[in-house]
Amino acid sequence: MKIEPITPKNHDLIGKVVDFIRDFCTQIRSVHVDHLERKWINIALLVVGLLVAIITIDAFFHGINPPSKVETIDSAKLHLSKEFAESNLGVQIDDQGNITIRMVAGRYSFFPKHIAVPAETKLTFRWVSMDVLHGVHIPMTNMSTMIVPGHVAEITTSFPKPGEYPVLCNEYCGLGHNHMWSNISVVAKEDWLAPSKLTANKEIKQ
Ligand code: CUA
Repeated sequence: MKIEPITPKNHDLIGKVVDFIRDFCTQIRSVHVDHLERKWINIALLVVGLLVAIITIDAFFHGINPPSKVETIDSAKLHLSKEFAESNLGVQIDDQGNITIRMVAGRYSFFPKHIAVPAETKLTFRWVSMDVLHGVHIPMTNMSTMIVPGHVAEITTSFPKPGEYPVLCNEYCGLGHNHMWSNISVVAKEDWLAPSKLTANKEIKQ
């Protein structure tokens, strides 16, 4: 069997590709495009370029990335994890007064079923899913995120005024999806009773 030398053939191929691109560019250039149309093509390309630049700058310099990608967790073993064990769910306040709320989404509810939080206070919500993809949306706040199984979704928000706020699942998760909702009682800052120190000082580790 005769083996042909590879190098000259490769050179041929590269040459052909270069020729093809050159031909293609010449043909594109020879197509008549109306002056006004050309203007709009350029504007559209400019907008696309601008958006890509904004996304790139945000991702690399401001560290803005999809929140669900940051932290991972084993969704099948939530009850065994220290952070999302049943006794650790709900509202907790640390020694510095930071409030963290841990919630689990599962078909078809949010757990714990009911929580009470203070109004006009910075709250850090940490959401996980125990089964499939869910979403959470709380009207009148910035709370709208996917809860991707295997990831922790962390959102910092605050409730503008006291009242009952609905918590809605906004990702289709099965036949009971439209029944998957819950509510959060938001009470005036001064009326809110912080969970007891006993819960607050519990050691939380992943
Ligand atoms: Cu959970 Cu839709």
